[in-house]
Amino acid sequence: MERSLLPRHIGIIMDGNGRWAKKRLMPRTAGHVQGAKAFRKCLRHCADIGIECVTFYAFSTENWKRPDEEVGAIMKLFSEYLDEALGMDDKDIIMRFIGDRSRLSEKLREKMLRIEEDTAANINGTICCIAVNYGGRDDIVGAVQELIAEGYDWSDVTEDAISRHLDTRGLPDVDLIIRPSGEQRISNFLIWQAAYAEYVFMDVLWPDFTEKDLDFALEEYAKRNRRFGGV
Ligand code: FPP
Repeated sequence: MERSLLPRHIGIIMDGNGRWAKKRLMPRTAGHVQGAKAFRKCLRHCADIGIECVTFYAFSTENWKRPDEEVGAIMKLFSEYLDEALGMDDKDIIMRFIGDRSRLSEKLREKMLRIEEDTAANINGTICCIAVNYGGRDDIVGAVQELIAEGYDWSDVTEDAISRHLDTRGLPDVDLIIRPSGEQRISNFLIWQAAYAEYVFMDVLWPDFTEKDLDFALEEYAKRNRRFGGV
């Protein structure tokens, strides 16, 4: 596909893991295991086709309401991926994390920091941003708190100033949000950054999501006529 037709930043809501497992009479955690595999494939594909940035919604600020066992299983999968990525030394990928890290374990936080530092120099690579304990409203509140702490005058509180204080600072706004599993909502994901995003909702459950599904979403995006409020 022509480069100019590709989104610079894709946001992916990895939804449907629980339903995938339920359909197979398996525990919900089995859906997350399969979901983590789909994540790896999808990220690889993004890097192969040269997507500038892709953000995956792995755990929301609301997901703590789930049973401890499920939360633990998701954190374990995340931690395993970090170990794997730390060992891979993949020059095609820059890793970044968004969300409030204060509730994550010290060990996890250390790994996240290390991988961000280790991959920061891969400037020609795809930025893989993983949202963990992330909420769009929480992100905006955090940005406003920082502005106040930095002593911003009310008249300097502009859209640009807020953007520069969000967790996604430095990343382009989201062009395309993909949500599999048939749900059609944003669920507190990148709500500021997706102000002008295009949405592609798909019926496939996340664990079944393949490279072909991503290509389909990209083709769909390429057909959209983006006007950003103009004519
Ligand atoms: C939503 O599906 C999925 C999650 C809350 C967890 C996503 C986590 C992973 C894919 C694995 C860990 C991540 C990485 C980056 C290795 P759901 O459980 O809400 O599905 P349902 O709506 O069918 O119940």
